[in-house]
Amino acid sequence: MRLPKLLSVLCLFVCSPALLADVLPYQNPALPVAKRVQDLLARMSLDEKLGQMLMGGRDWVKPDQVRQLNMGTLLSGGGSVPSPNTVDGWVKMMKGYQEAAHATRLGIPVLYGIDSVHGFQLLPTATIFPQQVGLGAARDEDLMRRIGQITAREMSAAGVYWNFAPVVAVVDDIRWGRAYEALGEDTKLTTRLATAYSKGFQSGLEVFGQGAPHPIVTAKHYLGDGGVAYQSAKMPTPTGQAPIMDRGDTRGDEAALLARFLPPYKAQIDAGARSVMPSFSSWNGVKMHANGKLLTDVLRKQLGFNGLVVTDWEALQYLPANGFGEQLALATNAGVDVFMEPSKTAEVLRLMRQNVEQNKVSQARINEAVANILRVKFEMGLFEHDGPIAEAKALVGSPEHRAVAREAVRKSLVLLKNGGALPLKRDQHIIVAGRHANDLGLQSGGWTLEWQGFAGNNSRLPGATTIVDGIRQVAGPSAKVDYREEGDFSKSAVSAKAPADVALVFVGEPPYAEWLGDRMAEGLMLSAADLRQIATLRPLARKLVLVLVSGRPLILGDALAQSDAVVAAWLPGSEGEGVADVLFGDAPFVGKLPYAWPRDAAGFLPASAPVEARKASLLFEVGYGLSN
Ligand code: GLC
Repeated sequence: MRLPKLLSVLCLFVCSPALLADVLPYQNPALPVAKRVQDLLARMSLDEKLGQMLMGGRDWVKPDQVRQLNMGTLLSGGGSVPSPNTVDGWVKMMKGYQEAAHATRLGIPVLYGIDSVHGFQLLPTATIFPQQVGLGAARDEDLMRRIGQITAREMSAAGVYWNFAPVVAVVDDIRWGRAYEALGEDTKLTTRLATAYSKGFQSGLEVFGQGAPHPIVTAKHYLGDGGVAYQSAKMPTPTGQAPIMDRGDTRGDEAALLARFLPPYKAQIDAGARSVMPSFSSWNGVKMHANGKLLTDVLRKQLGFNGLVVTDWEALQYLPANGFGEQLALATNAGVDVFMEPSKTAEVLRLMRQNVEQNKVSQARINEAVANILRVKFEMGLFEHDGPIAEAKALVGSPEHRAVAREAVRKSLVLLKNGGALPLKRDQHIIVAGRHANDLGLQSGGWTLEWQGFAGNNSRLPGATTIVDGIRQVAGPSAKVDYREEGDFSKSAVSAKAPADVALVFVGEPPYAEWLGDRMAEGLMLSAADLRQIATLRPLARKLVLVLVSGRPLILGDALAQSDAVVAAWLPGSEGEGVADVLFGDAPFVGKLPYAWPRDAAGFLPASAPVEARKASLLFEVGYGLSN
């Protein structure tokens, strides 16, 4: 909506008294938000208020249920997408939900959230940025701002304005399956980069004029999700695998923990964040979703947060209370406003009505929670504009956006070792091996199209470029680049007697998310297959470059000595050419380690270990990175 249109809308309200007479105060954008909240709240029944606190999942909730339950929020969990999964498919889906919301008595628009943790990753044609671990290596605030802006713009084409990002976890232990979603182990770096991202995201739609909505970020997962003690996760997970780290217990001196984990949240709130998501984990034994001291006394009273608090996915089942109704009451009284219970919206409504009728939750707390939700919706401009931004459609996956993602890939690479092997030369004979060189899913990681990511089907990300295709493109037509996924060059001219100039061996991790990425230290070691591939390629080239495509440091073992050069490429996302740009020296190595690099499994220590002992356990310290 361009400025002139907004003026005409505003004028409708201000210049035409007759029209104004038909407009209720909460429907008048010329009034202060506080007035609109007050007026609307006063008009709402208990069920309409409780409806605002519901969050339905796209897989379970049809538009008519939004209308019937006066549902306030919705989400797409990992992999939950419309069919066709295109911008138009999203626009049609969102239109259905918003029309249902408009058909309710008070016509409160729905707020829809998704996990665009490295771009609008649910949409195949979107720009997929490096996962945050790579951005922590890049350490570039201006880049973070631009990534935030682009992410907001691509989401706005679908009419989605709520991002369950950034993860602002400060990560103590890379054995946690969510280390790649975070920006590293340093509080200050995490704070700086995540704040830049959120400022970019929140201001990203200003380019479309004053009438555009104000998109919101979610600081997550509050508090101390990255600081849980090893093997402190006790509760069973839906898959039956006992998590090693994820959703465990963050333990220690309260002041020290707050100093380590709270600063990113203070900075997010100061930068205008309007949503916070509690962690599944506990804090000195108290489940965060029931932690009134941290959710209310610290977050609201100390940090002054007056946005909304949304639970994590079905997190209430783990709370220490007798039954779901009491778990809902416990979370509500601790400070939760919105319940991410995607398949249980009707049950949540029924149980919360009971909780109020039985005085387990006060009307005052309900009014406060609903006021938080309404305040955010009014501030976003959702009542005036809850549809897509049509002109944003052309920006989705655009060359300009992909160029920024390629720049991010370049800046994320960290050079750990270089014995004269890099940069590559375009007249060299280069042999390339490893699945991670030719798999868009492996180079993107979890939270890409699917909750757990994907592998083995490059057609799922049209417009994206694999690393090896990037190498071919950057090397140019005259270069000799031979790729064999399994590293079998036995039927080629290459041999120990006639070696290639350089072998690039790509190894790394499978995609994963949450507890499914938890590993014992031994699980961070390069696999036997990877080590075999390195040994196979070693005699076939004068120089061997090992490239790691992973969500965290991996334990190199003998591979370090067997390689002339070692590069951490992290999870670069859709623009694989960025890796080639740096390998060929078209761009310098500037990345620095966001996580310290462990030497071996036996001596592994988390960041919180005593300084000297931790230092002795490392191959490379945080901040290490060679230039060319
Ligand atoms: C997941 C994650 C959280 C995400 C939410 C919605 O369980 O913990 O980061 O935002 O569910 O997908």
